[in-house]
Amino acid sequence: MKRPYAQFVATGRSVPSKVLTNHDFSKMGLETSHEWIFERTGIAERHVAGDGETTCGMASAAARVAMERANVNAGEIDVIILSTATPDRLLPSTAVDIQAQLGATRASAFDLSAACSGWLYGLAVGEGLILNGTAETVLVIAAEKMSAIVDWTDRSTCVLFGDGAGAAILQKSKHGRGILSSFMRSDGTLAELLYRPAGGATLPMSEAVLTDRGHLVKMAGREVFKAAVRSMSDAADRALDGAKLTGNDIDMMIPHQANVRIIEATAKHAGIPMDKVYVNVDRYGNTSSASIPIALDEALERGQIGPGATVLMVTFGAGFTWASMVVRF
Ligand code: ACO
Repeated sequence: MKRPYAQFVATGRSVPSKVLTNHDFSKMGLETSHEWIFERTGIAERHVAGDGETTCGMASAAARVAMERANVNAGEIDVIILSTATPDRLLPSTAVDIQAQLGATRASAFDLSAACSGWLYGLAVGEGLILNGTAETVLVIAAEKMSAIVDWTDRSTCVLFGDGAGAAILQKSKHGRGILSSFMRSDGTLAELLYRPAGGATLPMSEAVLTDRGHLVKMAGREVFKAAVRSMSDAADRALDGAKLTGNDIDMMIPHQANVRIIEATAKHAGIPMDKVYVNVDRYGNTSSASIPIALDEALERGQIGPGATVLMVTFGAGFTWASMVVRF
């Protein structure tokens, strides 16, 4: 007998309307150029939140699109999982604010912290809750307001990131479709290669922290680049092995959108040609854990992923954390 799967019933996305191009950074007085950014990263522009646009607001908007497409109303949602590195406040979670906005009165809601890998981690948790019978309908969202935590005076990081949200509704599969395999891994010994040193309980916010900009993102770009290629390549292998598939069986790869060179190296390792790899980093930059659900939602909407398609999702982020998943749509 075929085992049950957790399947994607629908997805949605929401990004702020304000667009910041590479050229805009020079106009803001940052010593950089479109050529430098585009050649090294593939990024041309990104969306950034305007006044009053919040992580909760973007997340709720993405969730509403997914719910409407899935024909699921708020009262049917059992669990809301929000992946974010940019919660609106530190206590309580942003997920409970989303629950309140959606009116998902019988849901449990919590934030999940795994940086860029958080949406795939959240899907794996949601899958577990569905398969063990705890939940029937799980809303897995990733929403990031990276513009609130990047150092706008640091040209080596601020040009990379963007804001946005994506969401999916998971339910038990009725047609043998859904998550075929998933893989997650972390290495906390490398945490300080990409982190925010202050602003937490160890170094709470203070005037000194603000002056040193210790509450903003710090990154060792080269080390992160190398680890990303290594880990995403390994993660791709693990999910393919788990599903007993090879790169040849994949109809579309949806990688984390951090840098087109990282994406190309991962695809090459997995034996997946670039015409089967969805890339939108040029238009959104790195939206951290929201990058995969935004890309997936676009690919589904454009018909680039159809019923029966086999999709490999693969990611890497601060922690370090990395993860992958093979899904049959
Ligand atoms: N414009 C112009 N010059 C710049 C800029 C910029 N925006 N940023 C850095 N530089 C300069 C540096 O100051 C340095 O100058 P120097 O030689 O005079 O000291 C020079 O460019 C080279 O800097 P490097 O950091 O060595 O440049 P590199 O070729 O490694 O590219 C980059 C930097 C694009 C950040 C690359 O390392 C990278 O993409 N790393 C991965 C980072 C990433 O994606 N992180 C996201 C989070 S993790 C994830 O999502 C996968």
